[in-house]
Amino acid sequence: MLDLLRKRRSIRKFQDKKLEAEQIEQLVRAALLAPSSRARRPWEFVLVEDKELLAKLALCKEHGASFLAEAPLGIVVAADPGKCDVWVEDSSICTLLLHLQAVSMGLGSCWIQVRERWHDDHQTSSNYIKQLLRLPDQLQVLAIVAVGYPAEQKAPNDDSKLPYNKVHYNTFGNSFAN
Ligand SMILES: Cc1cc2nc3c(=O)[nH]c(=O)nc-3n(C[C@H](O)[C@H](O)[C@H](O)COP(=O)(O)O)c2cc1C
Repeated sequence: MLDLLRKRRSIRKFQDKKLEAEQIEQLVRAALLAPSSRARRPWEFVLVEDKELLAKLALCKEHGASFLAEAPLGIVVAADPGKCDVWVEDSSICTLLLHLQAVSMGLGSCWIQVRERWHDDHQTSSNYIKQLLRLPDQLQVLAIVAVGYPAEQKAPNDDSKLPYNKVHYNTFGNSFAN
């Protein structure tokens, strides 16, 4: 597990190569295996491979989403806040599991934040996506995960640079000696 976490980096450049159906199935399985508060499972996922839709999704906000246009797959993670008060946590867990499943299969991925972001002065990114993908009104979009074969190499995370100053032992400010 730690090895996987070291290898996981945000990948924003992808090869022009479709994913296999089996890879997509494994990604879906990872998300659906997520723990969920009171087992409410408020989430819904939209798998987007259509190039035109991906190009439009890449415009869901001004910054930080443009690379989605070149990704072979975008997984839109949405949820129904009416089903669970902690839908953000539930959906975030799924989003992270998608990342980890992707890296475990040698794929690259990047989290694209949607919740609390704006498409323009008038429309939230979530509403823009809901309209584009015809999501039911009660759903809110948390994020999109771009996934594909990596076309950039990033160094794995380095254990010697971990911020241990953020970890406290018994009482806050008491350092955790590792
Ligand atoms: C909640 C969250 C939102 C993020 N939103 C975006 C985003 O909208 N666009 C983007 O390119 N990267 C986004 N990222 C990726 C972060 O920029 C990235 O994780 C961070 O810079 C650390 O780099 P690493 O993932 O390679 O370790 C997001 C990550 C998280 C956890």
